Amino acid sequence: MNGVANLSLAADSRVGNIAFVDLKAQQRRIRDGVEKRLMAVLDHGRYIAGPEITELEEKLAARTGAKAAVACASGTAALIIPLLARGIGPGDAVFAPAFTYNATANAILLSGATPVFVDIDPTTFNIDPADLERRIEQVREQGTLTPRAVVPVDLFGSPADYRALMKIAGREELFVLADGAQSFGGSLDNRWVGDLAPVTATSFFPGKALGAYGDAGAILSQNEDDRECWESIRWHGTDEARKNSIRVGFNARMDSFQAAVLLEKMAIFDEELAARHRVAEVYNERLSSIAKPQAHVDGALSGYGYYAMRIENRDHVVNTVKEMGVPTAVYYSTPLHQMQAFEAYAPEGGLPVTEQVSADILSLPMHPYLTPDQVDYICDAVEAASRK
Ligand SMILES: Cc1ncc(COP(=O)(O)O)c(C=O)c1O
Repeated sequence: MNGVANLSLAADSRVGNIAFVDLKAQQRRIRDGVEKRLMAVLDHGRYIAGPEITELEEKLAARTGAKAAVACASGTAALIIPLLARGIGPGDAVFAPAFTYNATANAILLSGATPVFVDIDPTTFNIDPADLERRIEQVREQGTLTPRAVVPVDLFGSPADYRALMKIAGREELFVLADGAQSFGGSLDNRWVGDLAPVTATSFFPGKALGAYGDAGAILSQNEDDRECWESIRWHGTDEARKNSIRVGFNARMDSFQAAVLLEKMAIFDEELAARHRVAEVYNERLSSIAKPQAHVDGALSGYGYYAMRIENRDHVVNTVKEMGVPTAVYYSTPLHQMQAFEAYAPEGGLPVTEQVSADILSLPMHPYLTPDQVDYICDAVEAASRK
């Protein structure tokens, strides 16, 4: 296939509209089941703490291998609650990448702790364990903050290097809170996200691989240690009777309606995950010669919340494929340490790898309802754009 004109024609006839994420196609598939589930909530009327919440928590634990699952109002709430439960706050250093969504750093700062940004690996785009070790040492040498926790992010769905991270955390006595907001369905060494770190926060924002029809998230944990505390914090810090305040908390509960939607979506999640993998395999095969698709640590499978790659002339490719009807996204063109809200925490000398990756990263359409023709067309378009 040569040239923009041919590709545009193809978009009209063979390929149709290409969505970056297609929630409508998914809804057509599950609509009847979702309606039944939502009607059930209308009938029982327990809009908060309905039976759907418990059912969802049980199914999330069973699906991921987590010992405990606590449904929350959002992925951000699922990050803040475990930090508060551990008493992490002012004077504490929490290590995290700057190549992530702002919620990772917001959660750390809202807990009262100080984010210490760590550079990433140039191929996996996830936190670099060697740089983490350097930054821990620096913080210890400076002596003003106490290293308490690390928040690795499974960017685009690809699990961080937990084998290396857990060793460092064990030695340095750091709490590991995985930001798995993008990685539900990912795995490492045949264990699912949710069972890769002591505690994992995930997001069910509508565009995520498992998405609600509104905001929602969950805490997944390898043990039950903090479960009661999390349940209390998400309900204004109350005791089990939900009457007395026994600690400071906030409203971080998931609605029954969102749990109802998620239960219906969980039933098709594995099929959808397999479809995401099929799309990624074609992208990898077709585009590896002109771009560098995200690499995964040995033994890891991405949940493919997103498909990302590094490509030369990124902005030119974005604009050219857009004209051909291919939507793309740049996550993230500005790393957190260069954003106004977080620049006070920018490390001296910046984060060289993070900054390089921000300049050439690109995400392609990724969802289970892309047809083989659409995937081919997207590859043709990216190839044509990168040649020009
Ligand atoms: C890496 C990362 N962390 C945290 C969040 C926060 O999740 P939520 O939007 O559900 O609060 C998101 C997504 O939005 C995310 O992508």
